[in-house]
Amino acid sequence: MDQDWSKSHNGIMLCTFEQTRELMPEVMPMLDELIPHLEHDIDEYVVDVKIHMLMPGEYPCIPNWHLDFVPRDKDRKKIPSQITGDKMYLWVSGAPYTEFKKDPVKIETGEFTWTEFTQRDLHRGVKSEIHTWRCFIRVIPKKFIHPGTLNVGTVRRHTQVYIEEPDLFRW
Ligand SMILES: [Fe+2]
Repeated sequence: MDQDWSKSHNGIMLCTFEQTRELMPEVMPMLDELIPHLEHDIDEYVVDVKIHMLMPGEYPCIPNWHLDFVPRDKDRKKIPSQITGDKMYLWVSGAPYTEFKKDPVKIETGEFTWTEFTQRDLHRGVKSEIHTWRCFIRVIPKKFIHPGTLNVGTVRRHTQVYIEEPDLFRW
């Protein structure tokens, strides 16, 4: 599939499948293939999408080893004892691909390959080596959403990149 991601908006923030179908129909071919592989009922998940316009030297996500969606208390303090083994699912349209400390399980859903991971799987962002438009889709159990997260169920208005060499960037 050859989707032109430069035509998409920034993405969506933790939307139900129904909201996703309405706000970002172009990611439904990947999601529709994943649905039969989900561990729980479709209503127990939300979808996160980020579209990045990347230049060489830019990271689309946190470049340091980290975990996604570790439970936190209301002061944002991590509560590792509340980590569950519930699966999250990840798909990206092309390089740079997220690097996992331990090789994650891949799911071949048909036309697409999804990555399965949990709150215990350390991973980090990888630097882009090319100019590219990159689509990132993550499917998360709804119960992972932190109570303080803003703009759940809406179109994304902002997408950040991470850099380590400011001198690389000039017009
Ligand atoms: Fe992450």
